[in-house]
Amino acid sequence: MTVGPPIHELHFDEAPHVETSIPGPNSRTLLRKQEEIDSSAVAYPKDVPIALEEGRGSTLKDADGNVFLDFFAGIGVMNVGHSNPYVLEAVNEQTNKLVHTIDFPTEARLEFIEALDGIAPDGLQGQNRMVFGGPTGSDAIEGSIKLARHNTGRHGMLAFEGSYHGGTAGALSLTAGKAYKEGYEPLLNDVVHTPYPYPFRERLDNGGATAICPREDCCGQMSCARALEAVKEKFDGPYGGHETPGAIWVEPIQGEGGVVVPPKGFLKGLRDIADDNDAMLIADEIQSGFGRTGEWWACEDYGVTPDAMTMAKGIGGAGLPLGGMMYHEKYDTWDAGGHIGTFRGNIPAMRGGTAAIEYIQSHDLLDHATEVGEYMRARFRDVDNPRIGEVRGKGLFIGVEFVDADGTPDASAVKKIRTECYENGVLVWKAGREGNVLRLLPPLVTTKEQAEIGMDVITDAIRTVTKQTV
Ligand SMILES: Cc1ncc(COP(=O)(O)O)c(C=O)c1O
Repeated sequence: MTVGPPIHELHFDEAPHVETSIPGPNSRTLLRKQEEIDSSAVAYPKDVPIALEEGRGSTLKDADGNVFLDFFAGIGVMNVGHSNPYVLEAVNEQTNKLVHTIDFPTEARLEFIEALDGIAPDGLQGQNRMVFGGPTGSDAIEGSIKLARHNTGRHGMLAFEGSYHGGTAGALSLTAGKAYKEGYEPLLNDVVHTPYPYPFRERLDNGGATAICPREDCCGQMSCARALEAVKEKFDGPYGGHETPGAIWVEPIQGEGGVVVPPKGFLKGLRDIADDNDAMLIADEIQSGFGRTGEWWACEDYGVTPDAMTMAKGIGGAGLPLGGMMYHEKYDTWDAGGHIGTFRGNIPAMRGGTAAIEYIQSHDLLDHATEVGEYMRARFRDVDNPRIGEVRGKGLFIGVEFVDADGTPDASAVKKIRTECYENGVLVWKAGREGNVLRLLPPLVTTKEQAEIGMDVITDAIRTVTKQTV
């Protein structure tokens, strides 16, 4: 039995539908008012100048009635679409009954924990514990730092260049982006960052060829072998420079770093290094998880079970804030109150999360994400433009890296393409160490027809912008 309406009924009928110049007059008024009273840290509307009114499925209406195809989904949050009626019904029913429960047991909480167990990676299913701390992804990462320190007794932490793990002090220590950190250090000490395999960059540096790794039992890519060697050095090298790490934090696919998909052997290699050194492997699935890649969790595609997995973004179903961590039960060593937070019982969000899992399962949205994502990547490849260095991703986690004629990252092309796109009714975002990756995170409920229409707009935008600058 399917639950909720079919995906093609979730959206505004006509999308995209742009009636005014962007921003339209009502958006202008609200943007001006925001500038007067809101913080100078406000960021998104500075790049995409619209004020929002209503969302349905993969579509968003602005304050002037313009309707956009939303291909970044509140930065990877709205996996089952805006205002999904099946999910909202569950959330509203709960909201009318009881909202705040700290961590007292409720049916909503326990059902959600069981639903997450039902979609857990093999090696965690039936043998995990969930912990909820604060409502964000950064909170989940803070919890994972405490979990690792508590269980391994070691303070050293290893994360990767190009990573993003959040903006609170511990999470920011693991995050690699200097722009986020400068002016706030010292943060946590004993964090080391080693290179994340970046096959495209390595190919460029290697005159276009993929360097081959001689290890027969791995994936054959040198970028993987080099990255694993650097990690090993931090564990084994007597002059590694830091305390031996107690845990490794890895995004199975780097999101903010540019939708970088590592070679097949990377996660498996990390698993082996962690095992050899009594360290924990922590997969940050905050952006890559909850169905985004066409698997429930991106680490599944690598056949690797992490010791702990952080999650947030889409897990609240309706866009309600909820962060959490699933870890193997052998690490369940905290005493009562060992990890805390007032808002660790957002049960409307938990109801939303359970309903979202049901909706995704009943509409086969993992397979759908795989199919639509492949279609979108193929459309990018068909553009056949030398400015597109690489098209990559998995499922509906899509990145397109732009470079100029000599392979230098081209952030300005991405900015211009984003502008062309929103002016024509499609919202896209960026990523990448140099901001030169066009990033798409469409809701999993995006229909094939919407993908076709959206890709017409985006590929036209690419042609227009690159014609100006080639
Ligand atoms: C991989 C990853 N980890 C952690 C975070 C931090 O999550 P939040 O912004 O909810 O604190 C993000 C946010 O984009 C992320 O992409």
